[in-house]
Amino acid sequence: MGPIGVFDSGYGGLTILEAFLRHLPQYDYLYLGDNARTPYGNRSFEVVYQFTLEAVRFLLNQGCPLVILACNTASAKALRTIQQRDLADMDRQLGPLYDESPSRRVLGVLRPTVEAIDKHTISRHVGLVATPGTIQSDSYPIEIHKLYPDITVTGKACPMWVPIVENGEADSEGAAYFVNRYLKELFGEDPLIDTLILGCTHYPLLLPQIRQFLPSGVHIVNQGEHVATQLQDYLQRHTLLEAQCTRNGSCSYLTTESTAKFEEQASVFTNTRVSATQVHL
Ligand code: DGL
Repeated sequence: MGPIGVFDSGYGGLTILEAFLRHLPQYDYLYLGDNARTPYGNRSFEVVYQFTLEAVRFLLNQGCPLVILACNTASAKALRTIQQRDLADMDRQLGPLYDESPSRRVLGVLRPTVEAIDKHTISRHVGLVATPGTIQSDSYPIEIHKLYPDITVTGKACPMWVPIVENGEADSEGAAYFVNRYLKELFGEDPLIDTLILGCTHYPLLLPQIRQFLPSGVHIVNQGEHVATQLQDYLQRHTLLEAQCTRNGSCSYLTTESTAKFEEQASVFTNTRVSATQVHL
């Protein structure tokens, strides 16, 4: 038995973890940020897959029965291969946790986010803002069309938004400029969009700016909330896996960068003061 692993390329996954702690406070969590190698958003498929696999292996070796990829880029580029190719191998190496294969599970953030759009969009035109990697992967349109073939999806890569947030500039004039610019381009391409997916874990920190420049009446899909409620539902349906998740209400933080840097920067993403441990993958 062990904690639920929550993995992100850096700090962004803290916005997802925060929703887990609110909705499912009874479980233990082990957060891992690959801050030494962030960002993932502009890296190739091979590299994102390799880095994500190393992180997942690490968390499973720490005893996590379940790992959430709380990173859109990792979910878009690495999740499927890990689920289909690597999980069974890891069960063989570590020994299965219970009589089901694979017994350890890895889940991402795309599917729960996509499931939420149907009830919001009336025009059936959905916009997606994300990192260049997530947009190039086409994973969101593919997932959306599996569930809702009638929805038109228009994506916009926003390469400046992550660095703006990471540098604590989310409230600056520069942020306003780049938020306005990307949204203008997106809505210029498809003015019928009535639902906007924030397909990157950093973007909730830009919400005040996004709201300011968003055409009125457009619904914003808040990823953390949906991922947390879908996780709750998943655990209710997978009782053998759920029984492997320890419940002491604890949360520990690991980073591949220096702990001082992580602890300071984490305060941009979460109100809680965190104390981290440095690890090497
Ligand atoms: N966490 C990443 C995501 O949600 C954004 C940061 C990065 O590019 O690594 O896509």
